[in-house]
Amino acid sequence: MKVAGVIGWPVAQSLSPRLHGFWLAQHGIDGAYVKLPVAPHDFATVVRGLRRAGFQGVSVTIPHKQAAFAIAHRLDETAQAAGAVNQLVFCEDGTMEGLNTDAPGLAAALAGVDYAGKPVVILGAGGASRAAQLALKDAGEIRLLNRTPGRMGASGFGHWADAAKDAALVVNATSAGMKGAPPLDIDLALLPGSAVVCDIVYNPLETALLRRARARGLKAVDGLGMLMHQAVPAFRAFFGVTPDVTPALRKTLEEALRDA
Ligand code: ATR
Repeated sequence: MKVAGVIGWPVAQSLSPRLHGFWLAQHGIDGAYVKLPVAPHDFATVVRGLRRAGFQGVSVTIPHKQAAFAIAHRLDETAQAAGAVNQLVFCEDGTMEGLNTDAPGLAAALAGVDYAGKPVVILGAGGASRAAQLALKDAGEIRLLNRTPGRMGASGFGHWADAAKDAALVVNATSAGMKGAPPLDIDLALLPGSAVVCDIVYNPLETALLRRARARGLKAVDGLGMLMHQAVPAFRAFFGVTPDVTPALRKTLEEALRDA
């Protein structure tokens, strides 16, 4: 049996076992994908133990993405650029390869959006923002705004009006709008009617930001697309099959979110 899992702290709310479980069942693979709650000081010990125990690899979520970067023997290009790893693949020669599939996951989720060569706005200046900046490399210009100006060279939200007026795409890469967190307070009326609004937050699936965008007739992209797409290369590495992102998978995850 092939076994993989997701390491986080906390990890109880992770949808990754549902995602990988859906694909395991769909492809009839003899495998399992489990939640692994691991405190920060135990990370390296547990990862080495899982490798010794024959795991195929692990997905890595908050707060371990930098620790995973540090422990990997090899890194893909995006992980190198991001300074963060969200998938650790245990190779047959005993080494660990660190991947960052967050950025390509977001790029795949935005595949239908026409932002190439155009200005885009990214809100936030943490790890999620770094992934978004890497994902949107085809944009004409990236305008980085953050509550605290100066982080990663971001301007403050006071520059929203200027940044928004001809933007093709806005990506919320802050944690504002997550269940239990206050929503983002930005005026969507300042965006052109053709703008697309994307939220990396997926719990709730319809954030206040996306609801307000839709109410204005703007196209809205929720966080499930990125979540599903970032798992594709991981599943391929862990279980040897390239899975598809389908409406049936989305439905399963939407139900899981509703039951949560
Ligand atoms: P992550 O790795 O998930 O991006 P992070 O590094 O903690 O997490 O960054 C969280 C981001 O969300 C930051 O940009 C933070 O803004 P600050 O740099 O000003 O702290 C942003 N953020 C969190 N709560 C917010 C809120 N209520 N309004 C606006 N931005 C918020």
